[in-house]
Amino acid sequence: MGMKVAFAQQKGGAGKTTILSHLAHSWSRAGRDVGLVDLDPQRSLSQWSERCEELEFDLKESKDWRAGSDIRDSGRHHDITLVDCPGNADILLRATIRECDLVLTPCQPTGLDVWATGAILKICDAEKTPCRIIMNRIPPRGGKTEEMLAALSDMEASVLASRLGNRVAFSSGMLDGTTAISGNRKSIARDEVEALRIEIDAVLAGL
Ligand SMILES: Nc1ncnc2c1ncn2[C@@H]1O[C@H](COP(=O)(O)OP(=O)(O)OP(=O)(O)O)[C@@H](O)[C@H]1O
Ligand SMILES: [Mg+2]
Repeated sequence: MGMKVAFAQQKGGAGKTTILSHLAHSWSRAGRDVGLVDLDPQRSLSQWSERCEELEFDLKESKDWRAGSDIRDSGRHHDITLVDCPGNADILLRATIRECDLVLTPCQPTGLDVWATGAILKICDAEKTPCRIIMNRIPPRGGKTEEMLAALSDMEASVLASRLGNRVAFSSGMLDGTTAISGNRKSIARDEVEALRIEIDAVLAGL
């Protein structure tokens, strides 16, 4: 059975789909067989994947009572399965978190994101699924990041050291199915994604 990783954050627009697509691309390039499960009725991940010409992903669109078995099925067929969750913390999210080996929660350096992160941590705690926070859209001078990290630490959240900056490169590729690591150009965005993927690999190896 491959590893199953849920991208969950109650706060909409935190970066779940953006980060998931970048990591899917990065893991694929690193030679891993990646399966995708889209639980979001907005179909953002599905639309990106349909437009992605460089890579062909086995993507399942799933919902409701089918989610658990679809995630398990993808886990049986792929090295790593990435599950894109919808924004709301409901029964589906709970079942998804139960099914997965790891939860990744994007969090922007705002109080709203930090508070919403608390809801995910509670569910992960109850379901005994480890959770790691990814700090996303960090402004060039850091903004309120240090204060937000202190608040997350008070909540006993485990925050990954790798962070993603607020960069056009992360948002511009969605429409044409690319990511910031498409092509071979060196960039800070590419380095950030690669560092994040390597750090998550180490977390997965330690589970
Ligand atoms: N690091 C980043 N730099 C710049 N823009 C970003 C970054 N991360 C996300 N965005 C942008 O923020 C918006 C929300 O991102 P995304 O759709 O990935 O969030 P989400 O958590 O999946 O949202 P939803 O809850 O609606 O599914 C998008 O327009 C995306 O391009
Ligand atoms: Mg999304």
